[in-house]
Parts: sequence; C-alpha cells; structure tokens
Amino acid sequence: MTPAGTISFARGAPSPDIVAGDDLRAAAARALEQDPAGAFAYGTSEGYRPLVEWIADRQGLGPENVIATNGSLQADAFLFRLLVEPGDQVVVEAPTYDRTLLGLREMGAELVPIELDDDGLDVDALERALRDGARPKLAHVIPNFHNPAGCTLSGAKRRRLLELAGEYDFTVFEDDPYVELRFDGESLPTMLSLASDEHVVYASSFSKTVCPGIRVGYLAGPEETVAAVRRMATNTYISPSMVSQAIVAEFCRSGAIERSIETVKTALRARRDTLAEALRRQLPDARFVLPEGGYFLWLDLPDGTDVDALEAEAKEGGLIFVKGTDFLLEGGDSSLRIAYSGVTTDEIEEGVRRLAAAYKGLVGDRAQSAMGATG
Ligand SMILES: Cc1ncc(COP(=O)(O)O)c(C=O)c1O
Repeated sequence: MTPAGTISFARGAPSPDIVAGDDLRAAAARALEQDPAGAFAYGTSEGYRPLVEWIADRQGLGPENVIATNGSLQADAFLFRLLVEPGDQVVVEAPTYDRTLLGLREMGAELVPIELDDDGLDVDALERALRDGARPKLAHVIPNFHNPAGCTLSGAKRRRLLELAGEYDFTVFEDDPYVELRFDGESLPTMLSLASDEHVVYASSFSKTVCPGIRVGYLAGPEETVAAVRRMATNTYISPSMVSQAIVAEFCRSGAIERSIETVKTALRARRDTLAEALRRQLPDARFVLPEGGYFLWLDLPDGTDVDALEAEAKEGGLIFVKGTDFLLEGGDSSLRIAYSGVTTDEIEEGVRRLAAAYKGLVGDRAQSAMGATG
C-alpha cells in the first residue's frame, strides 16, 4: 500500500490535464457521424484506411507499407512473433523498455545486451560483439528520448547502425513512440527514412501525443513484412478497433494532433526543466543526461547506493519510481527512472524533495554504520 498523497514518478503516461479532451470529443462526434459504416464495422487488419493513409503520407510511404494496430506494443508483439524463433539472438539496449525484455524473453530469444552512451547505443560495442560472432536476427532500438534512459541516438550512430545491419544482415526495429516530443535541438532523420534497403521496421504510437487509452499505434516497413504482419493480425483479431482509429484519423485530419503535440511538449519541457533544476539543487550526488524530449530521465546515484533500500524509504515518504534493475538483465543497482510526464511541476518539486530526503536518510545510515565499524 502506498500512503495517500503519494507522488508517482513511476508511470510513463501523460497527466490528464495535457490530454486534448475537448478536441478528442469533437473528433469522435465528427468521425462517427461522417463514416458510421467504416467506424462501426469490423474493417480489415491493415487498420482504418484514412488513418493508414495519413500515417503513410507522414512517413513518405505507400499505404501497403503500414499497419495500424491496437497500440504500438501490439505491433511489437506481432513483429517479434514474425521474426524471432526460440534461440534466435536479439540485440537489446541496456537499459531498455521493460516490456520489450518481457516480450522477447517470452519468445525464447537469446538477448544480446549492448550498453547505451549519452548519445544512444554504443555502436562500437555492437560492432565488437558482431565481430566476435554474435549473429542477431533483430536489433531493438529506441532512437529518440529513450525509455528509460532519456538519451537520443546521434545521426552518425544511426547511419553506422544501418551499415552494420546491412553487413551482418539483421533487421533494425526502430521503436519510436516519443519522436514528436522534442523540446530542444534539431530533429534527426528516422533510420527508416535513411535506409536504402529493407533492414528497418519502424513503430510509433499515438499514446504519447493523443492519449494512451485510445490504443492506436502502427508499424511501417517493407511491404512483405507488413503483409505478413497483416496476416497475423487477421488471424489474431480480424481488425483493430475501427472506432478508435476513426477518431484518431479525424483528430489528425483536422489538425488537432498538431495542437495536442504542442500542448504536451510545452508542459513536458517545463516539467523536465523543473526536475533538472530540483535535482541539481537537492541531489547534487546524482548524475543524469538532460533529455532533449520525451517522458523520462535516468538518474545514476553514486556506485554502491542501494536503490532497493531507497525505493522502500521513498515509498514510506510518499514517492514511487521504477528501479534501474527493472530495465536491465543485470546491473542498474544504483540507478532509477523518473517519469515526469504524469506529474505537475509542483509535484515534481515535492517529489524531488522526498527523493533527496530518502537518499540522505540512506547515506546517513551508511555513514553511521561505517563510523560504527571503525569507531
Ligand atoms: C519504447 C516504447 N515502446 C512501446 C511502447 C508502447 O506504446 P503503446 O502505448 O503504443 O502500446 C512504449 C510505452 O511506454 C514505449 O516506451
């Protein structure tokens, strides 16, 4: 049980105040009025056609290169089922999204973890692993505003990764739900747009820019792969939710999506700034890379900090977060993930105060027991 008034740095979801409720209600009314036959029917597994076309247009692809799914997690699951056999090697980032680890483990994949630098995947380490004999089928990469690490893969690394994918013949799975939420710096091209061959499959989502409850995401890539995923989707659920996709299609067509992205970005930029400033002031022992966008900040505490104990202490003080170890096969014991997407700036101030108090309690205990040992 968490005490009442607990602040959550744990959930990677938007707070209700930044969801465009009025625009969504209006889009829903128009969508269901304009195309009841399309919205209320089963539809086909490619998804609601006007939405598929909008996505394809935005990505500079044809509709045959896109499938719209019930959230991008569903797209991930289909792709893993299509490409990964038990025992296949799959490159994962360390750390990475915990549900990716879960999904791949369920497929019986042999995971090849590659560390992240401040500018994303350590491609030199990947190259060494490949030279040493690793033969992955797939490399799962979160290129922008990483969950959980907050970092962004540099342009040079994107290109190098594509070269390696060509040379060693593996698919890059570009898992990109945060791409639209850049606060600073220049946007970088997707690997899907840079690839000159068929080595990239791309996924993104409306969860982070519209709302997660609508459950609409998509996969884009080579026609053959998309066709195979569509067959799999037909056999799984006939079609995704046409009602949800019709609403999102109208939300996009009407331009409400651009307003929604601006609202989310403005709020999250302020939350990130408040968080970074509060951490620098209240927890100077902590190290972090300032995220240029997205929902998350990864906090490294000094080696030897017991984040298990910190979590328990913080929870008692009314703060929850996710431990670093949840995002890794091994390591991460002195790290944690802070999601600033679901909390107001006031809650962030208070949450960091609680975190710093828990940390000081822990460090104080450690200093005291060290003194007891020597004194
Ligand atoms: C990297 C990554 N991929 C996929 C997802 C799943 O998104 P969706 O809500 O579209 O299923 C998330 C959600 O947190 C995520 O962080």
